[in-house]
Amino acid sequence: MDIIDLIKTRRSVRRFSQEKLDRNFLIELVDAARCAPATANVQALEYIIVDETKTCQHLFEALSWAGHVRPKRNPQPNQRPVAYIVVLIDTKIKKDAAVDAAAAIGNILLAAWGKGVGSCWLGAVDKIKILEILNIDEKYLVDSVIALGKPAETPVMEDAAEDTKYYLDDKDVLHVPKRPLKKILHLNKFGSK
Ligand SMILES: Cc1cc2nc3c(=O)[nH]c(=O)nc-3n(C[C@H](O)[C@H](O)[C@H](O)COP(=O)(O)O)c2cc1C
Repeated sequence: MDIIDLIKTRRSVRRFSQEKLDRNFLIELVDAARCAPATANVQALEYIIVDETKTCQHLFEALSWAGHVRPKRNPQPNQRPVAYIVVLIDTKIKKDAAVDAAAAIGNILLAAWGKGVGSCWLGAVDKIKILEILNIDEKYLVDSVIALGKPAETPVMEDAAEDTKYYLDDKDVLHVPKRPLKKILHLNKFGSK
């Protein structure tokens, strides 16, 4: 797929087929994350791949899904992600590396979608619980969790009117309104004055 099409068609997915993902593919996603831009090239990020069923189940309990339509987009047991990548910040290297994490996560989401794998970036997670579940040293901060799996839903992007809240229609399709280009794009100067 053309890179622009890839970017435009990636949507957050919260219902997954139960087909397993290859471990090497997950490692490739982390390798893609590793290549992202980083402030001053200081690289404070580390990653945990979680793909064992038991650990996936445990980790799921620390996550929170689709606040605007809660609880309708909480994945049911047969719709849950089959793998996760947990993104960690080594605070001894850099205290606040959230921007770097975002750049790395962008790579993960697009690299996954490029192979037809859906993802959801999860920031509203119980970070303390995740430190415990995955036995993570206290010097690390959990930045985000990326849920992964083959999509079992096809969310639709559309131009937003005013409200940008995503919503479910009467066929249970998730709609994701994005602010139209003409509302956010300025050419050479801001506004018309
Ligand atoms: C920093 C960040 C944190 C997010 N946290 C969550 C989350 O905890 N749970 C969730 O279901 N979605 C989460 N999302 C996904 C957003 O809801 C989603 O990106 C947004 O609705 C736009 O949809 P799209 O990704 O399909 O364009 C998060 C996204 C970002 C960028």
